[in-house]
Amino acid sequence: MENASAPANYFNLKEMKHIVDALDRNKKVFPNILNCVGNTPLVKLTNIPKEEGLDCDIYAKCEFLNPGGSVKDRIAYRMVLDAEERGILKPGKSVIIEPTSGNTGIGLALAAAVKGYRCIIVLPEKMSDEKVNTLIALGAEIIRTPTEAPSESPESNIMVAKRLVTEIPDAVLLDQYNNVCNPLAHYDTTAEEILWSLDDNVDMVVIGAGTCGTISGVAHKIKERCPKCVIVGVDPYGSILAQPEELNASDVQVYEVEGIGYDFLPRVLDRTVVDKWVKTDDLKSLPMARRLIKEEGLLCGGSSGSAMWGAVQAAKSLKRGQRCVVILPDSIRNYMTKFISDQWLEVRGFKSVPSNDKLWWWNKPLSEDLVKVIPSISENSSPSQAITMLGKSDTSILAVVNDKGSIQGIFTADYARRRLANLSGSTKEGLDKFIIKKYYKVNLNNKPSFGALSRILDISPFVVVVRTESTIEKPKGIFTSENLISLITNGNVMNGNGVLSE
Ligand SMILES: Cc1ncc(COP(=O)(O)O)c(C=O)c1O
Repeated sequence: MENASAPANYFNLKEMKHIVDALDRNKKVFPNILNCVGNTPLVKLTNIPKEEGLDCDIYAKCEFLNPGGSVKDRIAYRMVLDAEERGILKPGKSVIIEPTSGNTGIGLALAAAVKGYRCIIVLPEKMSDEKVNTLIALGAEIIRTPTEAPSESPESNIMVAKRLVTEIPDAVLLDQYNNVCNPLAHYDTTAEEILWSLDDNVDMVVIGAGTCGTISGVAHKIKERCPKCVIVGVDPYGSILAQPEELNASDVQVYEVEGIGYDFLPRVLDRTVVDKWVKTDDLKSLPMARRLIKEEGLLCGGSSGSAMWGAVQAAKSLKRGQRCVVILPDSIRNYMTKFISDQWLEVRGFKSVPSNDKLWWWNKPLSEDLVKVIPSISENSSPSQAITMLGKSDTSILAVVNDKGSIQGIFTADYARRRLANLSGSTKEGLDKFIIKKYYKVNLNNKPSFGALSRILDISPFVVVVRTESTIEKPKGIFTSENLISLITNGNVMNGNGVLSE
């Protein structure tokens, strides 16, 4: 993706047309749900600032209370209004296509549902099923793309969306990465609301950086009206937004927090208005998001934790009476099966497995003889060969290995069915299209406890067991609830020779 630096007058937001109605805070009835986008509450935090020893006041801008559940409702509505006004979007005819991490898609699908547009959303596989189900419920069509695909590759969500626009008649790409309506929506509404709430007196605003529409738009307006205010951007490690000069696309790594960080500089990012950057990671962000929920009652998402963690770092420089605003972009709804689940956090090492002294087996380590062996298949095989191998085995899972025996993923009957039934897959495709790369696994070298295994089995039907031998991660089998109950009730060990004694 080109590093699209904006032309000199691109951020001349003051001169642009402001088409969103001024807020009417006393309206009793709204014409439709799109008129309820924005005007989110600013809430003073009670507990976290105190615990973190901060002297200043921290206020959360609760963007998760938007109708679609995120800050992106604002830009979606704004881009649609603008495109309609300019005759680019034609009601009853145009098809909206957008690459997104999900929330812009939900905002667009919401607008499309109310206004009657067909809507196609292209989003990476990393994004939660909760977002996908919300999009489907809103009537959008979904295309998933590989998370690891660099934004310039033909497989990325951005490139797939660009291709579809050329193939589908009357398709329109509103393009949140380049569309000035993205920062403009925040210049006109988000920033106005913050300034209104705090009587134009704010010392710091902390904002997570994705497309950077929020940070650019908010910063431009706030700097006009409250020049003393420090604008802080929060960017995950693995993204180049904070240090484009130091990182390149090859440094990109995958992280769990959704919606922030990129491997290119979107045109809607104006780095000149960001005073300070804070880098975060999952380990800082996700527990902080859970604290916002538990200690402040704010039902927000993972990137809210990133922004809050960044705010706690940056606001240490503020004194008593000074005011810091942190934007909480989306809601708990998107992550009910992800970081809201303790087990999900534990498997990824973001939380420790709870102790349980009452169960004699909880702390005992898994050994190789207690694992149910599964067949391995070469990554060079075909889907048909994998299906035949499954038929001959007594499991519904195969380990897919390379020439050195290193596990590359798993092949399951369940995913093969889904691919053939729901994703227009064919057995003529390569095996790589059928491989699951994200699955729950434990490594015998780490001596996983049965307690830890039981916690994983709360959220997954099986756990893949591997062992690292001379730096190669080799599959050893799977462990299931059947194995566990058989062992702890002293029944027969499934397909293994070992016994677990008290
Ligand atoms: C959950 C979440 N947080 C933060 C952001 C970042 O907002 P922006 O794209 O305005 O930088 C997004 C954007 O998609 C998001 O979905």
